Order: sequence, then structure tokens, then C-alpha cells
Amino acid sequence: MPSYLIEYIMRVGIIGATGLVGRTTLSILEERNFPVSELTLFASERSAGQKIAFKGEEYEVMVVPENWDLLADVFFCSVSDDLTRPILEGYSGDAWIIDKSKVFRMDPAVPLVVPEVNADVLKTTSSKIIANPNCTTIPFVMALDAVRRVAGPERIVVTALQSASGAGKDALAELRLQREYLATGQEVPADAQEVFGRILASNLIPQIGSFDKSGESSEERKLRAESRKILDDARLPVYGTCVRVPVEVGHSLSVTFIFTEAVELKRIEKSLASYSGIKYLSGSHYFTPSQAAGKDEVYCCLLRHSPEDKKVIHMWITTDNLRKGAALNAVQIAECLI
Ligand SMILES: NC(=O)c1ccc[n+]([C@@H]2O[C@H](COP(=O)([O-])OP(=O)(O)OC[C@H]3O[C@@H](n4cnc5c(N)ncnc54)[C@H](OP(=O)(O)O)[C@@H]3O)[C@@H](O)[C@H]2O)c1
Repeated sequence: MPSYLIEYIMRVGIIGATGLVGRTTLSILEERNFPVSELTLFASERSAGQKIAFKGEEYEVMVVPENWDLLADVFFCSVSDDLTRPILEGYSGDAWIIDKSKVFRMDPAVPLVVPEVNADVLKTTSSKIIANPNCTTIPFVMALDAVRRVAGPERIVVTALQSASGAGKDALAELRLQREYLATGQEVPADAQEVFGRILASNLIPQIGSFDKSGESSEERKLRAESRKILDDARLPVYGTCVRVPVEVGHSLSVTFIFTEAVELKRIEKSLASYSGIKYLSGSHYFTPSQAAGKDEVYCCLLRHSPEDKKVIHMWITTDNLRKGAALNAVQIAECLI
């Protein structure tokens, strides 16, 4: 954390403190020594009264009360879209809200921020709500921004391989339960397929969210629309496929950049290697999602030309969806606000 932050002590609130993103946010605030003067934790009635440790002290989880916004200067909101709406819609308080849901991401009045890419938008906004992008969009726009500093691709084709934790704690628990059934030779019952609607263990599910009339899933639509907003390019030619994979933590992307003319790999390597938040691995070195889990960086690897066309470049990206894909990005936004 930058040393100047020490001068700014803030009351911090976490809505959804018991979830995967909420708990990761707490770890990151502690790791980065974020200047917390008071901490208020909210979750559902199920968790009310539960104690969560932060910097050696225990904090009790509460349900969200009326006038919750008076209890902190900055809130990290990490609950489902359905819960975010009643809590935040019409919000006019003074506290900053950094929201992880999709609810405000495409609202023109609300900045959608990946600090390494577009922190500047925070300087001019009058919105007290700042939206955190989708966990696949964040690593994608960082890598694409680094590539675009060298040359703008004519088309970008992405296949996102998204871990179970991207769908929350119940999804992760369901994957683990399904594995247990399969490991003991049992059939996976319907009540162990409620979150994904299918068996994810030892499998892949080529659908995240709902399909629209064109056959595109809501997750694929988010990837394109959010990337366009963050990079301020309404025509950004992104073609995505989003697949749920039986990985616990760590989203990966196989990306193909298609240019109008040949681009030197060395220039893109240099741009990736010097980009804040990206760890570039050269040659045939690469990280898998489980290697990226628990780390802050976006790993960009296996950069290569198509053997038959120097206008085509491929890349493998992997990152921890709970950290840079969600909680770390949000804490970095709060650091920028300070
Ligand atoms: N997971 C990711 O990788 C990721 C990445 C980017 C964005 N996001 C977004 O971040 C948000 C949270 O995701 P998550 O993965 O952390 O979900 P999660 O693990 O399912 O956690 C959900 C949180 O919401 C709380 N909650 C449920 N009902 C509530 C209520 N009535 N009042 C207050 N809190 C309530 C839960 O509390 P209880 O424990 O009491 O149920 C829990 O703390 C979602 O909008 C998600 O789309 C997630």
C-alpha cells in the first residue's frame, strides 16, 4: 500500500462479509494494511452473530440495518445482483460504495474501473458508487490494454474457462460435494446439482448465465459490453465463449488477437512485461489456474504467432478470480479514491 494512505483512516463496511469475495476482501485489506479505523460486517440473518477475525480482533456479523450507510466511509458490497438492487438502488448517501455485482456496471453515470486501465475516470466522477467489473473482464482488459499499446487488433476471440468459485460459496461447495459422490461411485443427486443445474465435477458446462435469442450467454455479453466501457471503445470487436470448468479458484482465458498486419511478438512481450499488475511468463513457461490462486498478478503466458499467419497472436491468461478478479481490484479502487 502506498505510504501516503497512512494519513487517511477510514471506517470500512463489508456487505456480504461471509461470502467468498467478502472474506477475500477482508484478507486483502489486512495484507495491504488498508487504514481501517472501524470495521462493520454485514451478511444475511443466517450469519448474524458470527465472529470474523481481522487484524487480531473479532468482529460480529450483523444483518444490514436501516441507515447502514452511516456506519462507514467506504463499503465493499459483495452480494448477489438480486440483493444489491434493494440495498443500493436509489442510494444517495455520502459513503463510497464499491460494488461487485453487475447491477451498476453498465450505468453510464457509474464508473466501471480496473485501476491499471482506467483509474482516471475516478477523478471526474460525481458518482459515489463505483462498479467493479466481472471477474473475467478484469484480466482480459488488462492484457488487451497492454496489447493495444502496441497495436489494436481487428478482432479478439476469447474462450474463458471459469472456476466454480466465480459463482460463489454455494457453487464451490456443490462442486466439492459432487466430487465426493463421484469418488465413492455414487450418482450425483438432483439436490447436489442445484447451483450449476448439472454435474460440473469431471465435466465442463458451456453456459454461464442465461442465453439470449441469439444464443449468446449473459456472461459472454458482459465480457464484451464491460470491456467496451472500460476501454472506452464502443466497437471493440470481442467474440467470447464462457465455460464453467471444475477448477476451484482461478479463471483462465485462451485469447486470439487478429491484426490487420503482422505484429512483432517482442513489442507485445515488452508491453506485457512492463504493465502494472501483469506477470508475463516468456517462452513455454506458463501458470495454471491453481498456480495463480492466492496470487495477485494476472499471468500472461504462451504468447505466440499462429504458425501460418503472423497477423494472428495467441495468449494464455490466468488469474485468481477472487483476488484480482474481484476483491483486490475493489481494494485498489478504494486506494485510488483515497
Ligand atoms: N466469486 C467471484 O469470483 C466474483 C467475482 C466478481 C464479482 N463477483 C460478484 O460478487 C458478489 C458476491 O459474490 P460471492 O462469490 O462472494 O458470493 P457468495 O460467496 O455466495 O457470498 C454471498 C454473500 O452475500 C450474503 N448475503 C446473502 N443474503 C444476504 C442478505 N439478505 N443480506 C446481506 N447479505 C446477504 C451472504 O451471507 P450469508 O453467508 O449469511 O449467506 C454472503 O456473505 C456477486 O454479486 C458476484 O457476482 C463474484
